[in-house]
Amino acid sequence: MGIFDFRQFLDNLDRNGEIFRVPVEVDTLDEMGAFIARADYEDINKPILFEKPKGFDIPVLANTVGHTYRRMAEAFGVPEDNALPGSAMKMMQVLKSGGVSPVYVGKDKAPCKEIIIKGDDVDLSLLPALRLNPQDGVGSPDFTEGRYFTSVCVSKPKEGAHNLSYHRFEITGKNTGTVWIFRGTGDAKSMEEAWGSKIDAPSSTWDRDNAKPFPMAFIFGVTPEFILAGANSALPHENDDFAFIGGLRETAVEMIKCETIDVDVPASAEIVVEGVFKPFNWATQGQFASFNGFYDKPRRRPIFDVTAITMRKNAIYQHVHIGRPLNECNSIAAFFRSVRTFTQVKEILPNVVDVFVDPSAGCGFTVYIAINKARIGEPKMAMMRAYTALAGFCKHVFVYDADIDIRNPRDRDWALAHRFIPDRDLMIIPNVMGMNIEPMAQGIVGSNAKLGVYDGYPEIPLNVRSFMGVDCTIPLGLKIMQRVVPEPEIEARVDELWSQVVA
Ligand SMILES: Cc1cc2nc3c(=O)[nH]c(=O)nc-3n(C[C@H](O)[C@H](O)[C@H](O)COP(=O)(O)O)c2cc1C
Repeated sequence: MGIFDFRQFLDNLDRNGEIFRVPVEVDTLDEMGAFIARADYEDINKPILFEKPKGFDIPVLANTVGHTYRRMAEAFGVPEDNALPGSAMKMMQVLKSGGVSPVYVGKDKAPCKEIIIKGDDVDLSLLPALRLNPQDGVGSPDFTEGRYFTSVCVSKPKEGAHNLSYHRFEITGKNTGTVWIFRGTGDAKSMEEAWGSKIDAPSSTWDRDNAKPFPMAFIFGVTPEFILAGANSALPHENDDFAFIGGLRETAVEMIKCETIDVDVPASAEIVVEGVFKPFNWATQGQFASFNGFYDKPRRRPIFDVTAITMRKNAIYQHVHIGRPLNECNSIAAFFRSVRTFTQVKEILPNVVDVFVDPSAGCGFTVYIAINKARIGEPKMAMMRAYTALAGFCKHVFVYDADIDIRNPRDRDWALAHRFIPDRDLMIIPNVMGMNIEPMAQGIVGSNAKLGVYDGYPEIPLNVRSFMGVDCTIPLGLKIMQRVVPEPEIEARVDELWSQVVA
């Protein structure tokens, strides 16, 4: 099973002291989520193993990938200091080559089948799913406890194809839950094909006789390649995402068929939850903290019926955290938004050298770009391309010269202070498209403001906002003062002093 085996991945980390073990009892309702958020804020950049989730026999592992580029670079097989452009290039190479097809193994080689639970024995309360944030689940008519899965899920868009994604799953009963399948995702397309109807089509158009259930498997306990591939919307929908993962590591992923549905899963997964979306079966899902750090309101979602749970002996439950930014969801999603923006800006500006979509803003909203500017106007082209690359996500773009480290806030502030002239370099485009979880565009101000008081902007229509690009590059041809930069020889002497003082 080798490099794609989650236990082996954890053992390797453990040997190097890279697991943050929590040996005390922690409640999966709110407490564990808050603990993960604290570790994120304290920059504890290690996977966190909760050995004793209160009331459960199954430990919880959070932050498999975490926040640094280290594990992302490892998964893509590129040096950490070149993680972003390197991963973008590697992704294109692997997609072009088709990757390495997965291989199928028998049950004797599939640890995920060591325990098989079907029929009436299926019980989701076996799993230590978290209430990630205190107000999660509020507003769900079937409100139980507001526990959600945020794990990778697998669907099969067609024979030979596998799609990895994430769809938040609120547990509402022993063998049932509601799942958010966003309209723009590949899985929404697959579900529409199975049901023979658009997700939001009126009930009068539903063809109940020909609609088929749409199957899906939620998988827990997989290595960073899978966690990252699920977040990567650049992988074509009808592709085999497992072949892409195999291509990253030049090793075939070992697969096995699910017990009750026509979907294949990694044989070494710790836990697999199998089930179907029966056609036109809807319920209101409770509110849930979204990636932008706001609670999204209760909305109508398809119901998922669980048909089987399979797992390894002594299984470990894997959790991807979502809540107040910064969290793992922000980091992995922002990484791919950086890859996407880099790739698209490079199509029109080969002199782009780096892109950083800042996960702290919630992933995708603030974008920093570094270019080797050669022609007047290039920063504005980069801004507009970044906006369209990220569609409704992108709110602010800052473009810098290549000598600025766009990941370093101090360097960015310095360039903003000394290379940016607002009336020349600021570009604002009003009334561009946003998204339905835009916190400041939830309807017409005044019509929903209780006292009818507003601060000068009477109308912020739903989904609409402005976009701003800030050009922090040096005007071409302008003779400017010489920048003070560190000198390596002096820096080396200071390093020596520092190590003596801090040791
Ligand atoms: C941690 C995490 C949670 C996510 N939750 C959801 C979700 O609940 N629903 C959804 O439709 N997309 C969600 N997404 C975004 C999709 O997973 C992402 O767009 C995916 O790559 C779509 O892939 P596809 O178009 O190939 O299906 C989430 C992403 C991450 C990283």
